[in-house]
Amino acid sequence: MSKKLRIAVLGAGRIGRLHIGNLSARISDAEVKVIADVYAPAAEKCAADFSIPEVSSDPLRVIEDPDVDAVVICSSTDTHSDLIVAAAKAKKQIFCEKPIALGLDRIDAALDAVEKAGVKLQIGFNRRFDSNYRRVHDLIQAGEIGDLHVLKIASRDPSPPPIEYVKVSGGLFLDMMIHDFDMARYLAGSEVEEVFTVGAVRVDPEIGRAGDIDTAVVTLRFENGAIGTIDNSRRAVYGYDQRVEAFGSLGMAETANRRPNEVRIYGGSAVKEDLPLNFFVERYTESYVAELKEFVECVISDRPTPVTGLDGRMPVAIGYAAKRSLDEHRPVAVSEIA
Ligand SMILES: NC(=O)c1ccc[n+]([C@@H]2O[C@H](COP(=O)([O-])OP(=O)(O)OC[C@H]3O[C@@H](n4cnc5c(N)ncnc54)[C@H](O)[C@@H]3O)[C@@H](O)[C@H]2O)c1
Repeated sequence: MSKKLRIAVLGAGRIGRLHIGNLSARISDAEVKVIADVYAPAAEKCAADFSIPEVSSDPLRVIEDPDVDAVVICSSTDTHSDLIVAAAKAKKQIFCEKPIALGLDRIDAALDAVEKAGVKLQIGFNRRFDSNYRRVHDLIQAGEIGDLHVLKIASRDPSPPPIEYVKVSGGLFLDMMIHDFDMARYLAGSEVEEVFTVGAVRVDPEIGRAGDIDTAVVTLRFENGAIGTIDNSRRAVYGYDQRVEAFGSLGMAETANRRPNEVRIYGGSAVKEDLPLNFFVERYTESYVAELKEFVECVISDRPTPVTGLDGRMPVAIGYAAKRSLDEHRPVAVSEIA
């Protein structure tokens, strides 16, 4: 391996562009050697913007390139599992955006290939690398709030995605709440045993007509006895609302939304402050850098990655359990799915 980890980024859309920018400017132990996107102009634009030497419209050829050490998979969800299998066979180290796939069979095929090849795999659950959530995680693990009794996660988007996206997204549970299922497992340090869902269309009837919901509360029962709730909405008029509260036998830890600045203005009739940072790119900027930095360090120093294939699989299984609970109006054990 050369001194820097030589990376191929597969997919140069919204998140691919973000990762390419971070790898180029913020992660000194890595270099983006090539960008591959089946839509050539996307790769070309990113390459020009970030001075990347090589582009390709053939991701499979790039995976075979002996000068590539690792791939960062940022293509559309339905391509992830095949690209993971190809990269594993070529003995490349793999970072892959969530979700690994929308089907558990495809996830299992990808994880089998990774295990057989003995390569590393890290899944892009970036929120684990947010300093607020990491602090809450560490407090819980250190026993500072005692036994965890209740974990509350509020996760609300500023506005719904385009309806065409909603139709192919996998639905609220696999597209949006998947991050919160991961956060729940991460913070509780325990598997989710059972879920119960109440869901509704409260934001946009078009979302209902597309067969999805836009508002949901899911209660979780963890193996360690703790109880959790996740509430999602596709529209919070005040911006991106991302908070957790962990309540335990010795106390409580909570996070607040991040804002562009922390100034409060006290007037004669109200106290005012800025709205929360609007969406995920602004809110989680540093977490995207930190997750890739960690991946690169894990490969270079041959350490296990912090977000594993199992961590990629479980939120999808929980998502299917939550959907079944909604459809059948009953608590559903995750073991019915996984
Ligand atoms: N972790 C996060 O916060 C986060 C945020 C956004 C998106 N994502 C995930 O990242 C993935 C991409 O999302 P996006 O919003 O960037 O999508 P996007 O549509 O903006 O970009 C996807 C790109 O992949 C390209 N592509 C499609 N098939 C390909 C293939 N076989 N090989 C190479 N390139 C291919 C497309 O041409 C497109 O340019 C999705 O799986 C999504 O769930 C994660």
